Amino acid sequence: LSELQKDFVDNMTHEFKTPLTSIKLAASVLSESQPIKNDTRLEKYSNIIAQQSDKLTTHIEKLLDLIRSDKIFNLKMEKIELGNFIRNFVKSLDHEFKDKNTEIKVEIPDQTIFVKTDKYHLNNILYNLIDNAIKYNESEVKKIEIALKDMGPYFNLSIKDNGIGINEANIKDIFKKFHRVHKDNIHDVKGFGLGLYYVKNIVKLHGWKIDVHSKPDKGSIFTIHINKEYE
Ligand SMILES: Nc1ncnc2c1ncn2[C@@H]1O[C@H](COP(=O)(O)OP(=O)(O)O)[C@@H](O)[C@H]1O
Ligand SMILES: [Mg+2]
Repeated sequence: LSELQKDFVDNMTHEFKTPLTSIKLAASVLSESQPIKNDTRLEKYSNIIAQQSDKLTTHIEKLLDLIRSDKIFNLKMEKIELGNFIRNFVKSLDHEFKDKNTEIKVEIPDQTIFVKTDKYHLNNILYNLIDNAIKYNESEVKKIEIALKDMGPYFNLSIKDNGIGINEANIKDIFKKFHRVHKDNIHDVKGFGLGLYYVKNIVKLHGWKIDVHSKPDKGSIFTIHINKEYE
């Protein structure tokens, strides 16, 4: 197992299985108690808690197996047209982010841009970056700009937001595993601090690079430098 896989497995085990074990234990204590046994309606509910937490446990086990099995960490490279890929990706976000006062602008040159990538992971990379751009954003209208640019020897794919930004002291650490910036007003935002660690690793496996520029209270821009593989 790679270090990244092991982190995922350990973290998932702790974050999901520990609470589930407590829920199941509590449900079984409840279902054995006399007041519940005497009330068919309550008995039904306590059975639902037990059954559904069993179901969740099974799902999580399956997910952990998938992560352990290496499948999702092996890149399956193929040739894709990046402009269309990004347009389709943004279309697929429409319904997820439409209620969140979010504007997503896409800027793609007219030329066709062929790159070699693993579509599944590229999708996850974009999703993670855009999820962050929206999560760590307190602007009334959250403005996200996705731009693709031909830089000569490589392509730049950038995701820009008008969010809370990241200060100097934290910026060098955000790609590290489990790193989350502590901020009074945003500490309730959910996350594991693994998103950018995953992004960085997958970018590296492609032979690409990622960097970030950010200003507190102004916003951030993450840029992926993509090698030209074709013509
Ligand atoms: N676009 C962004 N704007 C401001 N802060 C960000 C942005 N993206 C990431 N961060 C900071 O970097 C940390 C690490 O991000 P990530 O690895 O995706 O973990 P998570 O989102 O699960 O916390 C976040 O907790 C947040 O503090
Ligand atoms: Mg994240």
